[in-house]
Amino acid sequence: MIEIYTDIFLGDSATELKKIADNSVDLIITSPPYADQRKSTYGGIRHDKYVEWFLPISEQLLRVLKATGTFVLNIKEKVVEGERSTYVMELIIAMRKQGWLWTEEFIWHKKNSYPGKWPNRFRDSWERLLQFNKEKQFAMYQDEVMVPMGDWAKTRLKNLSNTDKTRDTSRVGSGFGKNISNWVDRDKAYPTNVLHLATECNNKNHSAAFPEELPEWFIKLFTKENDIVLDPFMGSGTTLSVAGRMKRNSIGIEIVPEYYNMVKQQLQPVEAYLFEPKVKYEESKSKRSDTVRGTKHRNISSKKDSKS
Ligand SMILES: C[S@@+](CC[C@H](N)C(=O)[O-])C[C@H]1O[C@@H](n2cnc3c(N)ncnc32)[C@H](O)[C@@H]1O
Repeated sequence: MIEIYTDIFLGDSATELKKIADNSVDLIITSPPYADQRKSTYGGIRHDKYVEWFLPISEQLLRVLKATGTFVLNIKEKVVEGERSTYVMELIIAMRKQGWLWTEEFIWHKKNSYPGKWPNRFRDSWERLLQFNKEKQFAMYQDEVMVPMGDWAKTRLKNLSNTDKTRDTSRVGSGFGKNISNWVDRDKAYPTNVLHLATECNNKNHSAAFPEELPEWFIKLFTKENDIVLDPFMGSGTTLSVAGRMKRNSIGIEIVPEYYNMVKQQLQPVEAYLFEPKVKYEESKSKRSDTVRGTKHRNISSKKDSKS
């Protein structure tokens, strides 16, 4: 019999992560406190101490992530005395030295950022979603996030140049090429690395909650059912509730008791699921002796999913 769990821990991620087994997590997706921000609600880390603060946590994340797993870090450098601080760049370099591969950077375009006027910049409408991996080969289910081909099919693809009809490799010498004619008559294309999503705070009791589509997109892209998703700064628990709805196991850590208790109260058993047994998860579960079992989804049969 297989169970889908949502396990939550109250405490500092730097210590609570030590309770999670090595190489047990498929996806880590999180938004840590940004430097010096939101001090009134959950404290802030000084921008010049940020890397020092984060590295013991990322060391634990590196340990708990499977070799095939992915870590998505939502972060954005703040402005300090009129200049963008460089702590995110310093963090990327330090994490590479720690053993992470910095595979990709996605942009979260915040479609509904507040209007405003600043003397030396425009309103900030995007954040970084940094993708780190342990290995170059990692689990990625690209077909799960395909998008409708849209207007491209009607415009650019109708009028292909000779270059478009052959593989176009030479211009920048990157070794990567494209043959646009391959996409004629297709309904769907792979998405870009820009996610256009509105922020979502008003209906959650947390000042910096993820929009649900954000963890959902990465959970689709990097995991399959019954995998394990970790959010070491869970806040209002958006990642966990989305993971549960998508039939993934999840683990969350939160330092503020008020947020932890809010998530604990909101955890609801959802449907019972039918999966093939997955030995790895059963092994790691037994090591987590002092977690709070928020949600426990017990399967009603160990037979293979009859819905598929
Ligand atoms: C940006 S918020 C995350 C919001 C979350 N993505 C959501 O959808 O609600 C960061 C959270 O990390 C928590 N936090 C800050 N420092 C922490 C630490 N050392 N360990 C665990 N949680 C921490 C804060 O209390 C806050 O709730």
